[in-house]
Amino acid sequence: MIYKRITTRTLLEMKNNNEKISMLTAYDYTFAKIIDQSNVDVILVGDSASNVIAGNETTVPITLDEMIYHAKSVVKAVQRALVVVDLPFGTYQSDSKLALRSAIRIMKESGAHAVKLEGGSEIIDSVSKIIKAGIPVMGHLGLTPQSIYKFGSYTVRAKEKHEAEELISDALLLEQIGCFATVLEKIPSNLSKKVCSKVSYPVIGIGAGNHVDGQVLVMHDLLGLTTEFNPRFIRRYLNLNNQVSDAVKSYVSDIKKMNFPNDEEMY
Ligand code: KIV
Repeated sequence: MIYKRITTRTLLEMKNNNEKISMLTAYDYTFAKIIDQSNVDVILVGDSASNVIAGNETTVPITLDEMIYHAKSVVKAVQRALVVVDLPFGTYQSDSKLALRSAIRIMKESGAHAVKLEGGSEIIDSVSKIIKAGIPVMGHLGLTPQSIYKFGSYTVRAKEKHEAEELISDALLLEQIGCFATVLEKIPSNLSKKVCSKVSYPVIGIGAGNHVDGQVLVMHDLLGLTTEFNPRFIRRYLNLNNQVSDAVKSYVSDIKKMNFPNDEEMY
């Protein structure tokens, strides 16, 4: 099916038609334009910008202003995809009014279409308040990188029975209060299959197997720009790190050899 403009409703339609949903991160105008024109359904302005753009070790330090800056650049480039923006750490956990203010800032200042929050029952008041204000919310369960210091590692989540049960109940709760979709990150494939059998909203996986309704990756991982981060769920479609490095080395070498610019490249 050809969809002209992807909305939250389109994603549900896709799920119901058994059409898988593609989602990829973007943080700037140039890449967002390429990704949108390549028919990715959902563009996530992820707080992974904290790692791949700002060079931080975790997603914890990125600010709301920084997320809005990235989201604004992405929105300008996008004509088809649904643009979802991560609410960064510290902008929604403490109280629901703050959460709503943060979400409103993202929507008004960037022009994005939806926000994503990490967590389940512990942030339910925030999620609920944002949805009641008319802002679509995507959930994020399983490995939630903003809580890295609580868990101490990025290992597979919800392997224990009680954690799996909690995750299923969070997925149901998010659906019940009106989230239009949820991300499941780095959990056993059997568990995501179980979640999908219980909920009716779209479930997008990253390291959650192939029983889900769609997949998301970080753009820098897909393009092979990152090299040190190697969980098994990443598929690198390019080795752009090497290609960029080779191109830059050729440029440096051409300058040194006085081979750039040549006659045709001068005025
Ligand atoms: O920030 C991000 O890129 C994400 C994806 C990994 C789902 O949340």
